[in-house]
Amino acid sequence: MTQPTLPGPIDRPRRLRSSAAMRSLVREHALRPADLVPPMFVREGASENKPVTSMPGVEQDTMDSLVRAATEAAERGVGGVMLFGVPEHKDAVGSGATDPDGILNRALARLRAELGDQTVIMADLCLDEFTDHGHCGVLDADGRVDNDATLLRYREMALAQAEAGAHLLGPSGMMDGQIAAIRDALDAAGHLETALFAYTAKYASAFYGPFREAVDSSLQGDRRTYQQDPANGREAPRELELDVAEGADLVMVKPGLPYLDVLKDVAAASPVPVGAYQVSGEYAMIEAAAANGWIDRDRTVLESLLAFRRAGASSVLTYYASEVAGWFQQGLPPHLREFT
Ligand code: PBG
Repeated sequence: MTQPTLPGPIDRPRRLRSSAAMRSLVREHALRPADLVPPMFVREGASENKPVTSMPGVEQDTMDSLVRAATEAAERGVGGVMLFGVPEHKDAVGSGATDPDGILNRALARLRAELGDQTVIMADLCLDEFTDHGHCGVLDADGRVDNDATLLRYREMALAQAEAGAHLLGPSGMMDGQIAAIRDALDAAGHLETALFAYTAKYASAFYGPFREAVDSSLQGDRRTYQQDPANGREAPRELELDVAEGADLVMVKPGLPYLDVLKDVAAASPVPVGAYQVSGEYAMIEAAAANGWIDRDRTVLESLLAFRRAGASSVLTYYASEVAGWFQQGLPPHLREFT
């Protein structure tokens, strides 16, 4: 019997995978706690934390537990914290969003007082948590989201958040012209250092499902007249160009893993740092599969976060941020070290 011959010389990329040391030598991307930002929910009038049932491990915080959780996250070295408010009362224009005594603004002031400049304090700048109809803006007489009337509300909301001490505002409502309108209001009031993290490519996604519970959303219907169509890629570079021209300091793509193609395009074209948001539904899927023993939770979490870095994101908003930063602080166990 003659040995069957192989065709030609074989190129052998496996050489670079031959040992842990060799893999470490050639590894292109890694995670750092400072890349990660936990979204947090603070609930008005709450005396105890309230678990978000569709996001096991995530809770609506009281003011005090928020301070504890944000302090712990900051001590673990996360890049910042992104704050969402859950108000007791909602109305058509989202009055609680602009009231200095509204839950989000009070929580921002409290965090800034406790943490100073130790971490980046970020505020969600959107009306949906505060409106009784649950939309991201105010409605016109026909019940449609009124873009320009909403911009006026966003300007007021931005001032309230800047005055409360937020370092970085995250306009997430997908209104046209929102970055320019907000930047102008901030500058006119002397808030030259308050930065804007624009939700640049934000899709009308079913992956936000669990978030609606997290903020007690009252939305009926959907956001398809202002958030992007999941079928479309071309709008993302257009939105990027607009946001950068209007003064965005950072830009974001959201959701995360299902939109890595969009993230990669945006990261390649963007002159400013790029973030990604691993949203509630992505978290819920990992948790549900892990709870069933179907995937290795910790490795899946780190692999998913690393994917954002590979696609070009420098920051990742993720509900795993504080936990993962804690793993780094303690020193990752050997089976997770390849992620560092
Ligand atoms: C809107 C907002 C949403 C999320 C963040 N900001 C919900 C939406 O657009 O419907 C979703 C975040 C998540 O699902 O984790 N303020």
